[in-house]
Amino acid sequence: MQQIPTTLSPRSLRQNAEYTFKQNTRAGRHGWLRLTPAYSVTLVNQILSGLQGRERILDPFSGTATTTLSASIAGFPAVSVDINPFLVWFGNAKLHRYTASELLRAEQIAERVVREYDTSAPMAFPPIHNIERWWNTSELRHLAALKATLERVAEVSSPEKNILLVAFCRQMMRLSNAAFNHQSMSFKQVVEPIPQTQLFEKPSSFSHGQDWMQDWMQDVEFVAETARQHTPVQEATVLLGDGRRIDEVCHTYHNAPFECVITSPPYPNRMSYIRELRPYMYWLGFLNEAREAGELDWQAIGGTWGIATSRLSDWQPPPNGIFMPPALQSILGIITAKDEKNSVLLARYIEKYFADMWLHFEGLQRILAPNAQLHYIVGNSTFYETLLPVEELYAAMLTELGFINVGIATIRKRNSKKELFEFHITATKA
Ligand SMILES: C[S@@+](CC[C@H](N)C(=O)[O-])C[C@H]1O[C@@H](n2cnc3c(N)ncnc32)[C@H](O)[C@@H]1O
Repeated sequence: MQQIPTTLSPRSLRQNAEYTFKQNTRAGRHGWLRLTPAYSVTLVNQILSGLQGRERILDPFSGTATTTLSASIAGFPAVSVDINPFLVWFGNAKLHRYTASELLRAEQIAERVVREYDTSAPMAFPPIHNIERWWNTSELRHLAALKATLERVAEVSSPEKNILLVAFCRQMMRLSNAAFNHQSMSFKQVVEPIPQTQLFEKPSSFSHGQDWMQDWMQDVEFVAETARQHTPVQEATVLLGDGRRIDEVCHTYHNAPFECVITSPPYPNRMSYIRELRPYMYWLGFLNEAREAGELDWQAIGGTWGIATSRLSDWQPPPNGIFMPPALQSILGIITAKDEKNSVLLARYIEKYFADMWLHFEGLQRILAPNAQLHYIVGNSTFYETLLPVEELYAAMLTELGFINVGIATIRKRNSKKELFEFHITATKA
């Protein structure tokens, strides 16, 4: 078993690309969509290879289901949970054990979509704010025509349709102006707004439509082929639910306790997964208006987008029962005292993040078997140059809850900021 580095010498302060999602693009189903929340399949496989082989695995913050997919391929029964319905759909599409006939049917339906691709009856464009920044006019019209044809040919949800929708997502993102080279998304270019008259007029022809359909067919073949080669051995599933009430979510699913948790929770870095995932969520109908995105971000731990930010000002910590490590209290004092416009709001953001994580750990301990192992991959952050040692605060909370063997290993440097790292926090249920 290759060891995860546990100590850092100045020479080893590297960005260790093998521990980022970049690895996943070449790993079968893991490479279906390149979504920023994903962590590295290499890391998960290393943790799995240190287990005995039959442990029941839980990932309470599923994201793209990296943990559950790796675990089920390696023969472990696994369950994961996410608050985002798009990620729950996508995770279950990745985990499905496709039969040969389902995959054949998926390719046949795709051929019919190519034959019946009809540019004169596109679906309405998804109501994404500033949609013209995302796609140029021809690309947008093509995507609307492809999606409408796909829905007409395959009306009902099915494993076959999921293959085609994943292929649609691949092309939708490839044709967009979004760039995901940084930690969060930016636009390659700002394009001219599309005049309203053009947006709604029926296009007579597309210069690239048929080429793009051939590209889409290649995506379908890629998704079907990787689904064929990379089959989960064990049944695994993603549940829709809130990690702050993980005991309730999992209780309704299964009564047996979990023996291992492998996860990467949201980091307290103000990144909004909803913001990043908007294009997928609008095109696939998981979001219909901006207000819903803000609501969902408020439910997400660490969410700060739209309405979630304004709600933060009114948020109060639950009246009792939340443990706050002493180090966190002093950091909150330091940040609140900064003479900056948003210092009070940011201190509240951090306080809420750790209150939410405390609720998570408290619920979690109720559904773990004795000796269950915990593996949390998380990054630290800075606020107005004050370091937030997330790993130490996790360790303090786990110790307070009676977990033993609590350890912190540094995995990698996160980016050019010298103080930002990713950590692997381990603990055992007594
Ligand atoms: C860092 S990502 C997980 C990435 C994952 N390991 C992967 O490889 O894709 C954190 C995830 O936590 C989810 N999340 C945020 N708040 C949550 C909550 N209250 N309950 C459950 N999941 C939540 C987010 O939607 C996001 O998918």
